Amino acid sequence: MVIAIMTSRIIGTGSFVPETVVTNDDLSKIMDTSDEWIAGRTGIRERRLVKEETTASMSAEAARRAMQNAGVTAEEIDLIIVGTITGDYVTPSTACEVQAAIGADKAVVFDINAACSGFVFALITAHAYLNAGIYKTALVLGAETLSKIMDWNDRSTCVLFGDGAGAAVVRADETGIMSFDQGADGSKGMVLACRNRVNNNPFVKNDIVHDYVSMDGQEVYKFAVSTVPKSIQKVLDEANLTTEDISYFVLHQANIRIIQSVAKRLKVSEDKFPISLDHLGNISAGSVPILLDEMNQKGMLQKGDKIVLSGFGAGLTWGSVLVEW
Ligand code: COA
Repeated sequence: MVIAIMTSRIIGTGSFVPETVVTNDDLSKIMDTSDEWIAGRTGIRERRLVKEETTASMSAEAARRAMQNAGVTAEEIDLIIVGTITGDYVTPSTACEVQAAIGADKAVVFDINAACSGFVFALITAHAYLNAGIYKTALVLGAETLSKIMDWNDRSTCVLFGDGAGAAVVRADETGIMSFDQGADGSKGMVLACRNRVNNNPFVKNDIVHDYVSMDGQEVYKFAVSTVPKSIQKVLDEANLTTEDISYFVLHQANIRIIQSVAKRLKVSEDKFPISLDHLGNISAGSVPILLDEMNQKGMLQKGDKIVLSGFGAGLTWGSVLVEW
């Protein structure tokens, strides 16, 4: 008797980025920076920033596009997981807002806070449910409005980030996700941090009104270039594959130099590392699914292709997934 081994497959993608384009030259008009510095150190040339859009509105549109791409209806969605650190409300979750906006009434929904690993963590979580036979069809998103948590007086952070949302429809299937790896090092949490509201109950006195993202860029850089190649190697080893078998490495889009260093450490041509950071900057949880959708829309992904998705960032957190398309 042949017993089908269950896994889960990405069957459609979608994304949404805000209309407003902000170039490095635009930023150099309002702060002491330059296109030369930003592009030279990071590869970023422009980013999209919200005006009217919200994390939920971008997510809902990305979700609609992914469902259309996958050919599934809202009634078929059993589970919605959104990776985000910039939901519009502390509660309800962004996933609840998406559920209401698209009418996925029967779906179980929640957010995951894993910063730039958010989409990859959400995908692995959805995979666990689908693999276990609990649900059949999931909507997995990574979405951020990072511009609202940036200190726009801190040129060393605010120039790096952008806003946007990406989504994937994932369905229980016999082929698809082949292996995954994830991890965290909470002891280094303050390397890249943003405090939530401080307590202002009548019995405490707090001077902090708002807090914004703070980052030790060089520590984050060192963490990324040492951890990501190991995580990618793990998922390859687990599936008995080598880098030669992989069509694309879809990495979190933080910095071109991180991506080049990962490629070098893995001894893989940079051509296998598609890029969106040049026109979108770093969108934290949004980076991986938006780039995946760009690749899908361009027809870069053929059935049977093996690709690695890898997220890394605040927490510190990291995660990689090996996917057969
Ligand atoms: N424009 C111009 N100058 C800037 C600047 C900007 N936007 N931001 C910082 N500088 C200046 C600094 O003030 C400093 O000047 P000084 O030497 O006169 O003090 C100089 O540039 C170098 O700053 P430093 O922070 O040492 O630069 P760096 O080489 O480490 O590059 C990053 C900074 C952020 C590009 C780099 O550390 C990095 O990419 N880290 C990873 C960050 C990341 O990807 N985070 C997200 C992960 S999810």
